[in-house]
Amino acid sequence: MPEHDVLIIGAGLAGQRAALAAVQAKASVAILSKVHPVRSHSVAAAGGINAAISIDDDWRSHAYDTVKGSDYLGDQDAIEVMCSEAPKEVMHLEHIGVTFHRNERGELDLRAFGGASMKRTAYVADITGQAILHVLYEQLLKHHAQLDRYEEWFVTSLLQDDGGCCCGAIARDIRTGRMEAFAAKSVILACGGAGQVYRPTTNALIVTGDGIAQAYRLGAPLMDMEMVQYHPTTLVENGLLITEGARGEGAILLNSEGERFMERYAPNKLELASRDVVSRAEQTEILEGRGVGADKAGIYLDITKVPRKRTLEALREIVNIGRDFAGVDITREPIMIRPGQHYMMGGVKTDVNGATPIDGLYAAGEVACVSVHGGNRLGANSLLDTLIFGRRAGEHAAARGSSMPMPKTPSHARVLEDVARIDEVLAREKGGGRRVSEIKQELGDTMNRHVAVYRDEAGLTEARSVVQRLRQEARSAYVDDRGTVFNQDVLGALELDYMLDCAEAIVAAAIERKESRGAQFRTDHPQRDDEKWLKHIDITRGQDGPQISYSEVTITQWQPEERRY
Ligand code: FUM
Repeated sequence: MPEHDVLIIGAGLAGQRAALAAVQAKASVAILSKVHPVRSHSVAAAGGINAAISIDDDWRSHAYDTVKGSDYLGDQDAIEVMCSEAPKEVMHLEHIGVTFHRNERGELDLRAFGGASMKRTAYVADITGQAILHVLYEQLLKHHAQLDRYEEWFVTSLLQDDGGCCCGAIARDIRTGRMEAFAAKSVILACGGAGQVYRPTTNALIVTGDGIAQAYRLGAPLMDMEMVQYHPTTLVENGLLITEGARGEGAILLNSEGERFMERYAPNKLELASRDVVSRAEQTEILEGRGVGADKAGIYLDITKVPRKRTLEALREIVNIGRDFAGVDITREPIMIRPGQHYMMGGVKTDVNGATPIDGLYAAGEVACVSVHGGNRLGANSLLDTLIFGRRAGEHAAARGSSMPMPKTPSHARVLEDVARIDEVLAREKGGGRRVSEIKQELGDTMNRHVAVYRDEAGLTEARSVVQRLRQEARSAYVDDRGTVFNQDVLGALELDYMLDCAEAIVAAAIERKESRGAQFRTDHPQRDDEKWLKHIDITRGQDGPQISYSEVTITQWQPEERRY
């Protein structure tokens, strides 16, 4: 059985940054992911990474913008850690080979992004995530003596010892179907959010909430789950991301009357208000009949305002996306977009070192909730979050392992339990229930209808009952592929189970929060209510479903005030 000081699940930016930190701290590390590392969803991160590196910027200004963007639900001590460590992290990336865009003076160039009081976003065209991911992958190759890679392995369970500590995981080799237990002194979850709970979403098919659900099943609390971000600019056709970098470079939003409507909603920041504000403005225009397109369900994003040469250089990926997926040359005509699910502010509750309340279990990146994003994440703070808290989790997990023996290895019987779980799915009668894909589709549509930009009690209650029914139906959902080699079908059934856990927690928290804050806008409770609701909603798994409790929001230097953009 493989044994490691640190087992990292997920090989996107948080996972690879954690691995780099842990090997540098001399730990033996394994990194295990269900796709090849450079296909992790971090590859889709487009517009950039925030850091106060400009001579006239200050990390406190970045922190204040982040606190305000979070609608005061972010924990300010954690935000201070993230923003104060950001410049060093970005310079570290630059030094290890990330080819950030430079200005005419040869300095790192910075672009404008939403909710920021000045230009603060370092970028590599509109493929920033991809650029960083590849550099981290290359850097880790140097550490092959200390680092084992398990690429295309799917985790089926986290393991806990008799004392309740997390001590490894069970996983299936996707190529062969073989199951194996991995023992580890510490486990770091770095396997992303749960965007596939929604349809459409900007998130890759692999983003199915596995880590969130596995930690939840182990007893870890989830926090801020009601806070689901809708990105203002996703393609009407299929939900693909059109980077906020476009608006940062000068693109504007127009309704069917040709009006630059953001002048009414955010007269100072316009299209660069925080994402929750811009998405709500667009949705209001659509609901009030000023949308564009056949069923008036879109908004025009006019990128022709950006000089063509600049678009071709700094926004080249969305030039391709516009042409290939919408048949639009964005340098010559507006493109139709709408708000679409993009990011989960909530996740597994951790401290600033990535530690969860379960000993030995860490989480970093979108799977985690530190909470640095609170009710609404600022664009380009997510790459930063993955790297800062990935590194911190890697360092702390390595340090924890240096002073303890390898935990007792799990019994073979425990592996057989997971084998039996998969065999049970494979043995389901064809036609004895619905297909996994059908249930997933209904789940996504329901969440997008009722747990989206605008929410109310009736819609949320309806979503809860649909999710409960789908959970029943998932028990008999069948798969077509009965084989062992690359059986993605059977893994889809396990993922569906995880997604249902996440959906249940999201809906429960959204019903519970009877106010409007950040990404949660309740039309039946349209005001922010600091007196009652300036608190986190924590969710643990009870016998009868999600159990709710609350925790304090940490305020250090910025008292809540009304947000204006
Ligand atoms: O629009 C974007 O480029 C997305 C960035 C982010 O979510 O941070």
